[in-house]
Amino acid sequence: MKLHSKPWYDQLAKQQVGYAPAAARDYDEGWGSGEEFYLRAVREHLFPEAIVGESGCAEGGVAIELSPLCQQITAYDRIEPYIDLARQRASEADIHNVEFICFDSSADANGGVPHLPFEDQSLDLMMSRRGPMHWLPDVRRVLKPGGIVLQLCMLQWRAPLPWASDLPSGLQPSQDHLRGFGRESVERDLATGDLHLDSYWEFDVPMYLPDPTSLYKHLCVGRHADDLPEYPTVTPLFEVIFEKYGIEGRLQLRQRRFMWKAISR
Ligand SMILES: C[S@@+](CC[C@H](N)C(=O)[O-])C[C@H]1O[C@@H](n2cnc3c(N)ncnc32)[C@H](O)[C@@H]1O
Repeated sequence: MKLHSKPWYDQLAKQQVGYAPAAARDYDEGWGSGEEFYLRAVREHLFPEAIVGESGCAEGGVAIELSPLCQQITAYDRIEPYIDLARQRASEADIHNVEFICFDSSADANGGVPHLPFEDQSLDLMMSRRGPMHWLPDVRRVLKPGGIVLQLCMLQWRAPLPWASDLPSGLQPSQDHLRGFGRESVERDLATGDLHLDSYWEFDVPMYLPDPTSLYKHLCVGRHADDLPEYPTVTPLFEVIFEKYGIEGRLQLRQRRFMWKAISR
């Protein structure tokens, strides 16, 4: 099953509560991976009257965190249990200016054309942290004149991981879902909706897996337990990978990211 496909998210939502545990790292991301940069950039574009949209919000962590800085945030995700959790978390935190809606913005769920669940010219800011990228052709429609789009995205590895070929087939890492994404795809998809790229940043910093167990856990995220070898059966292999490719006992992993910004003029 393709990682980060709709069936993959449907399966993940049954395996764990919320999306955050899948994204949680038990390793050092290194300084400057882009995650903090994204939140800081979004914060700088918010103001008390701002009306904000968010795509692929999962359990709503970003919207809830940023809600005191703007007037209203409407955040959506196609996974119903994530939206239920987001609503519950907002209510527990007594936050009333965030609306969470269950919506699939992809072309195949909207008669062949991607569609954002927002009114025409209703948003000052559209944001997405590692959310889907199919909605770019529709984003100009929902932005007010002068409205901003900010998105943080994952990028494919520059080269195949040197140790990937040593792994059993059930644990092969894959970034097929990121193929073709980057500056050119953003420019092309924005141009379809008559919008242009204002800024583009790329991040490529080393992250370090501390031990063989953390590599195993990292590779298991979102995979079906029936397809996975049990850790004890692959322990020797993982230890050899660490001995062969590790630097001072840690294995380097690069997860590249990019962030982009567009302004509706
Ligand atoms: C990588 S997760 C990021 C979640 C969250 N933004 C974060 O930073 O933790 C991508 C999210 O996009 C959602 N998503 C993917 N395709 C979608 C679609 N077609 N419509 C709505 N949400 C979608 C997934 O359900 C998932 O919650």
